[in-house]
Amino acid sequence: MAAKTKPWLVICVFLLAANCIQQFVHGKSQVPCLFIFGDSLSDSGNNNNLPTLGRANFRPYGIDFPKGPTGRFTNGRTAIDFISEFLGFKEPIPSYANTSGSNILKGVNYASGGAGIRRESGKIGGANIDLEVQLRNHKVIYSMIAKKLGGSEKAQQYLSECLYYVNIGNNDYIYNYFYFPIYLTRLFYTPQQYANSLIVRLSQYIKELVDELGARKVVLVGLVDIGCTPDAMSMHRTNGSCVEEMNNAASIFNEELRSLVDQFNNNSSTDSKFIYLRSLDKSIFLGFPVANASCCPTLCFPNKTPCQNRTEYVFWDGLHSTEAANRIIAERSYNNIMHLL
Ligand SMILES: *[C@@H]1O[C@H](CO)[C@@H](O)[C@H](O)[C@H]1NC(C)=O
Ligand SMILES: *[C@@H]1O[C@H](CO)[C@@H](O)[C@H](O)[C@H]1NC(C)=O
Ligand SMILES: *[C@@H]1O[C@H](CO)[C@@H](O)[C@H](O)[C@H]1NC(C)=O
Ligand SMILES: *[C@@H]1O[C@H](CO)[C@@H](O)[C@H](O)[C@H]1NC(C)=O
Ligand SMILES: *[C@@H]1O[C@H](CO)[C@@H](O)[C@H](O)[C@H]1NC(C)=O
Ligand SMILES: *[C@@H]1O[C@H](CO)[C@@H](O)[C@H](O)[C@H]1NC(C)=O
Repeated sequence: MAAKTKPWLVICVFLLAANCIQQFVHGKSQVPCLFIFGDSLSDSGNNNNLPTLGRANFRPYGIDFPKGPTGRFTNGRTAIDFISEFLGFKEPIPSYANTSGSNILKGVNYASGGAGIRRESGKIGGANIDLEVQLRNHKVIYSMIAKKLGGSEKAQQYLSECLYYVNIGNNDYIYNYFYFPIYLTRLFYTPQQYANSLIVRLSQYIKELVDELGARKVVLVGLVDIGCTPDAMSMHRTNGSCVEEMNNAASIFNEELRSLVDQFNNNSSTDSKFIYLRSLDKSIFLGFPVANASCCPTLCFPNKTPCQNRTEYVFWDGLHSTEAANRIIAERSYNNIMHLL
């Protein structure tokens, strides 16, 4: 498979950026460290030992990943795996659940399948590590880094050069707002009110990350088109067209997230910088022969047989994109992330 190619080299060729060339010569990553907060789109094994249905550490998940199944919710690499490769990291960022043998100074991945901004989101499927707990885990790592570097001030100085990638919120809709009547939030909030309440919480967590934990370069990723997943389309029996009610709710959230990023950039009491990125949206579907069905049958259970040609599909299972789609998301993301560096 293509696992041995160097995607950043390809990107370098067409960007001809000086820091790409520097990376080529010295083999150094463009940022010293990368910390990842999120859900199954970014999880790299944090759920493997949790009591939950939201796990992916079995075949056919990982069939195109060099180490096989690891807990990633796709056939190969996730979007943030590709982004970290493009940034010049030689190894994937280790999951918080297993940092043994890794250098935490290069970053940690806290993402957890099923997790949301709200504590209860996704927990119908079992345990997950919600955003509040992910932040608490980061504080543990922060203390370890402070100890290694000789104090909080040194840690803040070091961490100010790191990239923080926050890609969360999909489960606050898929496994909460639109999981009625198991979840009742839609009785109490309009989509606009719900988006606002999520953004208020998210902004508190981000403020903590910046004000107390030294983050200065923060990427906030919008929701996917949640109404276009094979699961959403089959649950709503739309015959293969997207569920517009879900997409509309997601775009309200995305608009609010974008304006939060503007506000953060405008309130420059610190020298922190923020960018907003889109994730999987319909524009990516155009490059793929199959965008309305999943490669692995819905309910991609252990040892199910996936489709023959994974590169033809946008969706690996009922909710998650294939490695092929993740690569395209990551290429788009990386070009924007360059503005932060
Ligand atoms: C932890 O990560 C190391 C290095 O990637 C790997 O060799 C080891 O098998 C992992 N341990 C567990 C329990 O997953
Ligand atoms: C889906 O297709 C079936 C059969 O063609 C039809 O009866 C049904 O009304 C369609 N549903 C929607 C939501 O378009
Ligand atoms: C998916 O779209 C193709 C055309 O692009 C169509 O032929 C097929 O019936 C659709 N599949 C489903 C499950 O709706
Ligand atoms: C930006 O500053 C305004 C006015 O001081 C404040 O109301 C708002 O909460 C701040 N926003 C953020 C995201 O810090
Ligand atoms: C940025 O902040 C200034 C002063 O606090 C305010 O007048 C302006 O409207 C803000 N712009 C945006 C885009 O929020
Ligand atoms: C898989 O699909 C891609 C994209 O449609 C195509 O370029 C490639 O030739 C296919 N590979 C095989 C082995 O069929």
